[in-house]
Amino acid sequence: MTRLSAIPGDLTAQTADLIVHFQFEGDPAPVSVADPRLRESLAAILKGDRFVAKPDASLLWHGDGRQTASRYLVQGLGSRDLFHRGVLHRAAAAAGAQATELKARRVGAALAPASQWNLDLSEAARAVAGGFLYGCYRFNKYLTDSRGSADPEELILGTQRGEPGKARPILVEVAAVDRVLRLARDLVSEHPGYLTPERMAEIARKEAKQAGVSCRILREPEMRRLGMGGMLGVSRGSEHPAVLVHLTHRPRPRGKKGTPRVVLVGKGVTFDTGGISLKHSDGMEAMKADMSGSASVLATLLALPALRIGAEVHGLLMMVENMPDGRAIRPGDILTIHNGKTVEIRSTDAEGRLILADGLSYACRKLAPDYLVDLATLTGACMVALGPACTGVMGNDDLLVRRILECASATGERMWQLPLYPEYREHIRSDVADVKNSGIRYGGAITAGLFLQNFVEPTVRWVHLDIAGPAFYETGYGYAPKGATGVGVRTLLRFLGTLD
Ligand code: BES
Ligand code: MN
Ligand code: ZN
Repeated sequence: MTRLSAIPGDLTAQTADLIVHFQFEGDPAPVSVADPRLRESLAAILKGDRFVAKPDASLLWHGDGRQTASRYLVQGLGSRDLFHRGVLHRAAAAAGAQATELKARRVGAALAPASQWNLDLSEAARAVAGGFLYGCYRFNKYLTDSRGSADPEELILGTQRGEPGKARPILVEVAAVDRVLRLARDLVSEHPGYLTPERMAEIARKEAKQAGVSCRILREPEMRRLGMGGMLGVSRGSEHPAVLVHLTHRPRPRGKKGTPRVVLVGKGVTFDTGGISLKHSDGMEAMKADMSGSASVLATLLALPALRIGAEVHGLLMMVENMPDGRAIRPGDILTIHNGKTVEIRSTDAEGRLILADGLSYACRKLAPDYLVDLATLTGACMVALGPACTGVMGNDDLLVRRILECASATGERMWQLPLYPEYREHIRSDVADVKNSGIRYGGAITAGLFLQNFVEPTVRWVHLDIAGPAFYETGYGYAPKGATGVGVRTLLRFLGTLD
């Protein structure tokens, strides 16, 4: 794990393999470079290369032998007018990705003075250190030639803001968040033969114990008693029984009146073949990531004690595998969900909403939450609507949706609202059951959201995050390498931090 520290100044006198400075578009040199000689040299190089400091643009300079660091990375931020914490996080992540490619061991990153970034020290340190570590992540467990940590050994923040000591608690927090994000990304990256529902439960139990989160595991007999027809139905074709992991964070001191209660529900399909409505095998391997929602919920829960979050938070990991089999559910079957509503199966590939239906109604009936959030790689249609990097946000309470969108923007996660138009309920009306699990192609992300709404009590403020796109990047972006992203964790932690 990368060691984090903060020191005063602009890092000019530091020995390092790489020093990162961030630059606004239109500036001659990064505002974080205070040393006039370094500033002049960098300005000349940037000008000579006609560098334009767009987001994602960067310039690597090997120095001219007069510097203490062996390389400098100037990372673009785009225009000053559009700058905010999320932009900085993405830029820092791009720098982290480059540092890892360069195999830099000791890295410095300079924070600009508050007058230049308009962020307080904690926000600046959180974005730069958190973003940097985010970009460093690689999944190399199964690469026999390059296994083990490729991360830099050390990241030193240069702060031109008085006391660097003030950054220390933030660095502790950043390390805690980074740890759980890596776990989420590792779990999503794992191959589906290893990461079965049972294995996920085992890992969750072990991690929960270490983190100080309580963990209860519900198995099929209990689900039968609870009438969880969605969970039992979807997993019927699999050799691996369904598992529901219920995690709980209770803040200390306990029992304070008015402590809000939040339930997070994660889709945990460890592999989605589509079932009898079998998917095409081209690209099916990506369906190992169909448990990303559950991984992000687990990661979020595990970080709560370290972050001293004051809300009571429950996490429900809805773990199943969706397989075709002689015992599997068929199109035409009717299942009864935990709240008693019946569902006509039209496509066994619309399985996520079936297990979430049990999770959401269980949350409403047994836990009576103030806020209910689900995360699910739910629809290809959401990727069609918003592209691969963006989460679709839907909900029954516009204020809550807006708060989530604000948190997403601050963390640099791409999220955008989709409407839950009531007239589209027509698309999932069934002649034989209360609702059917798939409608027409158009607006598929929205009808999935409307389907879920059937299982949320109207008095509960609820948000649905469709993370089908951003859970797993098929192509990397400047700020995030290919593969698992741990999407949602940072936004949710930020949201939970605003409660109590
Ligand atoms: N897990 C998929 C959705 C998905 C697709 C996630 C691509 C990530 C990338 C989900 O279970 C599914 O198969 N949805 C169907 C729904 C349809 C049958 C109504 C889809 O999107 O095609
Ligand atoms: Mn599916
Ligand atoms: Zn699925």
